[in-house]
Amino acid sequence: MGDKINVLIPEEDVKRRIAEIGAQISADFDGQEVFLVVILKGAAFFGCELARCITCPTTIDFMATSSYGSETSSSGDVKIKKDLDLSVENKNVIIVEDIIDSGNTLSFLSELFSNRKAKSVSLCALLDKPDRREVDVKMDYIGFSIPNEFVVGYGLDYAQKYRNLPYVGVVKIS
Ligand code: IMP
Ligand code: MG
Repeated sequence: MGDKINVLIPEEDVKRRIAEIGAQISADFDGQEVFLVVILKGAAFFGCELARCITCPTTIDFMATSSYGSETSSSGDVKIKKDLDLSVENKNVIIVEDIIDSGNTLSFLSELFSNRKAKSVSLCALLDKPDRREVDVKMDYIGFSIPNEFVVGYGLDYAQKYRNLPYVGVVKIS
């Protein structure tokens, strides 16, 4: 039948942590406007929930990227599959990712938005696999550091499945 999934972070813990990050962002930006750049598809679930926990005036836009870093080369070549609709110029950009793994995606996007003249660029990820880092990236907001295992749920997929699971789980591929 299907793959076996073991719960790593239960739903209540994820929700509580997202509320904490939202409160932290609200305090850090203290009423200033923030611009959430949510990276599709994985961060859509986290990003929408995080947005509801931010009390500053908030704009949301979405972007899709793909990375060939792990499969074909170690160059970490990141491509934009869908760009933003809005300009980030002079905005307090917060890049919202599902997980930071090699660091290639967030490193690329951070430089991209600096070049597009954002007022500030902050980096936020629900999950962090520090053991897998290839490029040094300074994270501003991290939900949970996790071991080097393949996880699904809360937006993360395995072959496009399991994004809708309300918890983060480790998939044992059958
Ligand atoms: P990186 O930091 O550029 O290597 O890329 C992170 C991206 O790899 C994430 O946005 C996910 O799409 C994907 N990814 C990394 N680890 C996992 C995992 O354990 N489960 C699902 N997707 C993952
Ligand atoms: Mg992703």
